[in-house]
Amino acid sequence: MKSDSKQNVTPDLKDLPAHVGIIMDGNGRWAKKRFMNRVKGHERGSQVVRSIVTSCMELGIGILTLYAFSTENWARPKSEVKALMMLLKKFIVSEREAFLKNNIRVHVIGQKDKLPLDVQQEIDTTMELTKHNNKLLLNLALSYGSREEITTAVREIAKKINSNDLEFSDITQDLISNHLYTKTMPDPDLIIRTSGEYRLSNFLLWQAAYSEIYISDTLWPDFSRAEFVEILKNFQNRDRRFGKVSCSTSNAG
Ligand code: IPE
Ligand code: IPE
Ligand code: MG
Repeated sequence: MKSDSKQNVTPDLKDLPAHVGIIMDGNGRWAKKRFMNRVKGHERGSQVVRSIVTSCMELGIGILTLYAFSTENWARPKSEVKALMMLLKKFIVSEREAFLKNNIRVHVIGQKDKLPLDVQQEIDTTMELTKHNNKLLLNLALSYGSREEITTAVREIAKKINSNDLEFSDITQDLISNHLYTKTMPDPDLIIRTSGEYRLSNFLLWQAAYSEIYISDTLWPDFSRAEFVEILKNFQNRDRRFGKVSCSTSNAG
């Protein structure tokens, strides 16, 4: 894994978000602008993934969740889906050594069993090999959709009620959180979306309740460590109130 230039791009290392989620959007438009096939945009996009994973590791961000393929993305042309799956497999295999060397744990959220078998196998191998790593948790959202995640959680809870393993009164926000793919993780502090679209597109809807959201106009293949660091600095200046009054005003009045 190579990182891009580090000059002048170090944020204050305190108060970094513990969990960053990124909706990596704009690969197709990046390619279109250059009269290239959309797949070229995905290829370039996967190189940016490398650089941002490295940045998170170097900065000490604990969890990075990357939205790489949504439940809705299956409806794209077959050739594009196939190319995305091939790229995903290539990424998982080519980065394996770097994950091990850099103490990165790889995890998948989403319908892993819907992915092509060969991709599943490579993912399983990587997840198994990296399961004791603890510097960065790289969470890949693959065939992920929040509505599917919540529906699955509701089904599981209903099943447990049916079998008397749970009672109605056991249903709490924590119980629901603990039935989501992200069960062992804190909610994302910061969600970044590239390509200037102002929507979540079915990404971490429950978990994003109090996430800070940053929309960047940059198309994902043009995203850089430098911009990432600027976004982290912007995050550090946000006043996260969680519905309360801000610390700075509460003493004044
Ligand atoms: C994001 O880029 C990658 C995936 C959704 C897999 P897009 O492919 O959505 O790029 P645009 O939005 O068409 O530019
Ligand atoms: C969101 O991007 C999904 C991923 C980045 C994997 P899309 O391109 O699929 O989202 P929409 O269709 O613009 O909402
Ligand atoms: Mg898109």
